[in-house]
Amino acid sequence: MTSPMMVSPEADEAAAGRAPKKVFIKSYGCQMNVYDSQRMADVLAPEGYTETPNPDDADLIVLNTCHIREKAADKVYSELGRLRVARDERRAGGGGNTLIAVAGCVAQAEGNEVLRRAPAVDLVVGPQAYHRLPQLVEAALAGNRGAVVDTDFPVEDKFSALPQPSRERIRSRGPSAFLTIQEGCDKFCTFCVVPYTRGAELSRPVDRLVNEAKAMVAAGVREISLLGQNVNAYHGEGPDGQIWSLARLLQRLAEIDGIERLRYTTSHPRDMSDDLIAAHRDLPQLMPYLHLPVQSGSDRILDVMNRKHTADQYRALIDRLRDMRPDMAFSSDFIVGFPGETDLDFEATMRLVEDIGFASAYSFKYSPRPGTPAATKDDQVPESVMAARLARLQDVLGNQQKAFNRHTVGKIVDVLFERRGQKPGQIAGRSPWLQAVQIDGDDSLIGQIRPVSITETGTWSLHGVLSGVHKQEAIA
Ligand code: 5AD
Ligand code: SF4
Repeated sequence: MTSPMMVSPEADEAAAGRAPKKVFIKSYGCQMNVYDSQRMADVLAPEGYTETPNPDDADLIVLNTCHIREKAADKVYSELGRLRVARDERRAGGGGNTLIAVAGCVAQAEGNEVLRRAPAVDLVVGPQAYHRLPQLVEAALAGNRGAVVDTDFPVEDKFSALPQPSRERIRSRGPSAFLTIQEGCDKFCTFCVVPYTRGAELSRPVDRLVNEAKAMVAAGVREISLLGQNVNAYHGEGPDGQIWSLARLLQRLAEIDGIERLRYTTSHPRDMSDDLIAAHRDLPQLMPYLHLPVQSGSDRILDVMNRKHTADQYRALIDRLRDMRPDMAFSSDFIVGFPGETDLDFEATMRLVEDIGFASAYSFKYSPRPGTPAATKDDQVPESVMAARLARLQDVLGNQQKAFNRHTVGKIVDVLFERRGQKPGQIAGRSPWLQAVQIDGDDSLIGQIRPVSITETGTWSLHGVLSGVHKQEAIA
């Protein structure tokens, strides 16, 4: 998934007096990268940078990269090839210089190797060092020491060094916002690079998160998605000096007037604690939709993946959550073709999918990642077997998603309207279950939660009309 950043309509006051410059930021991979890209824009704004959706007129291009699978990393290198040509053309046409920066997990994992593979790159900055972007850009512009590489894990908390975005910047990003509460992962699943690229778990203190959430609400945010690589392992310092769990943090955030929706992602089944499960019953702001990756339905594979739970424990967890909130829906991640996966193991995954019934899901062929334990196993699954398994799995998951969406037709669901729709006169938002919903309507609806009567399902979104009744019907 890629998502070029939105243009901020107003330059920050702090930028007044600086020569105007443009930055194009492209985010690859997960939502944490989308959030980091926004914070990079925040840190560059006082330096005079406004965002542009067009790389061709940018003074600075930042690719905020993903290293989770080989394909994700390869995409970055092909984009760098294209950017190099565009930059040379801009230079030749007298359009000025463009600095190219590689940020995110490819930067962290590959460091100097990025420069070897893509000599056009001027700056490599890891996910724990981007608060130093202004100084790094300055050093790269000075240019006399060659390219600049910063992949340190600095001792200082990156978040305290980052400037708070202005109200205008928050507003320009719409009524649904991300807030990173936790970074890093100590789980070491044997297929995953995250513990190496993002480092050890770090939870941000409650007070800071509450203050940031309040600033978001004051700027019109209605929905906050709490982010973390292992978000439900959150254990941040509370105002009372005690360690707070995610459930306690959610409870505190739900007390803030104006926050109407809360979500959290991505969770690990092992960290679904009793208080978090109960929060789904007790907090009306907590949306009845949970992304809970399971990866495989085979106990043998789960064990070699180092997931530390069984398929039945996952089933039991889903049951408990559904007991708390009967309208709860789930999405998940799956890997097919993990080393040693047999037909029988794969059938166990298919059974788990049939048993649970997912509202949506992401599924991937196993991709060996350098430095991870599974990459060197000698029982790698052939590509053709992986392709056939993935096709079967995606077929069933696709049908489940369609069935879930069809189930909403004729129902009234609350929609938070976020932006203009694809066609003129349309407005788009999300249901509690994260389904995209389009209706005919005008800009005045943006930022509002309104009941919508769903009339039909399209390929990517639901369609409906505003309903007179303010009522949310359970889907389940
Ligand atoms: N190969 C394939 N998929 C992977 N994921 C993580 N590492 C790999 C890998 N090496 C998937 C997992 C994870 C999601 C973010 O990406 O399913 O939950
Ligand atoms: Fe990767 Fe596993 Fe940590 Fe998730 S829990 S980030 S899959 S190591």
